[in-house]
Amino acid sequence: MNAAPDPGAAAAAAAGWCAARLAGIPAAERTIVILTGAGISAESGLATFRGPDGLWEGHRVEDVATPEAFARQPELVHRFYNERRRRLQRVQPNAGHVALARLARGWPAPVHLITQNVDDLHERGGAPSVIHMHGQLTQLRNRVTGEILEWSGDCWESTPCPRSGATGQLRPHIVWFGEAILETEAIDAALERPALFLCAGTAGAVWPAAGFAGLARERGAAAIEFNLEPTQISDRFHRVVRGAAGETLPAFVDALLDGV
Ligand code: OAD
Repeated sequence: MNAAPDPGAAAAAAAGWCAARLAGIPAAERTIVILTGAGISAESGLATFRGPDGLWEGHRVEDVATPEAFARQPELVHRFYNERRRRLQRVQPNAGHVALARLARGWPAPVHLITQNVDDLHERGGAPSVIHMHGQLTQLRNRVTGEILEWSGDCWESTPCPRSGATGQLRPHIVWFGEAILETEAIDAALERPALFLCAGTAGAVWPAAGFAGLARERGAAAIEFNLEPTQISDRFHRVVRGAAGETLPAFVDALLDGV
């Protein structure tokens, strides 16, 4: 009987394969693009989106994560995001976040970290810069002026905007279904010529993020997926590493930083 493959060993082997692929590229041109999703924050205690019950923290996404839901029931939507914001203050970054920050700081070429997550665990794990394509829980936007505000407490329809003084103008700075993603210029620039594309903890079900791996490969990148399970986009990658991101990413990063 074969023993189950050890996730740390599989991650280190994938790093060895990457190091061999990158060997012919000058160090300063070994640009890395990393895409993360909800799975990387799961070990910190934040729920992923597509659970087996199809609900997100007990809600249907169309009741809390669409502009129509906010127009219909703003207090319900505010309450939902207030709860998410409070929960965020009670959780900590995990070894996966910390490993990616170590990679970004120790790598000789640019490392672009793109996340679909609205939490701030990459930043708190030490990442020097993060592209938040779906917005951030710790920010609100004034719907009238477009101004973005850093925010740590609750927000309701009755909360006055600290700049305009008016109530009923603030909303979560989160990309809801049907809305355009943020940071498109930074994403386009990052994906221009990656040497390595790493994808961790995303189901690959939401576009345009689901298309980034294919795009990166077309542009010559070596592509590796880190996920507990097979995903809708697993076939786009040269290598897949199965296991918890908090275990596989540290092993991968250590081996990659050692090996190139
Ligand atoms: P999902 O909840 O769809 O997928 C989470 C993925 O993480 C799954 O493939 C799991 O197998 C994997 N996973 C869970 N725990 C893991 C662990 N410890 N280590 C590694 N992998 C693990 O979340 P996303 O793909 O991020 O959009 O969802 C993408 C977008 O859909 C979200 O940003 C959100 C949502 O609708 C918006 O809010 C606009």
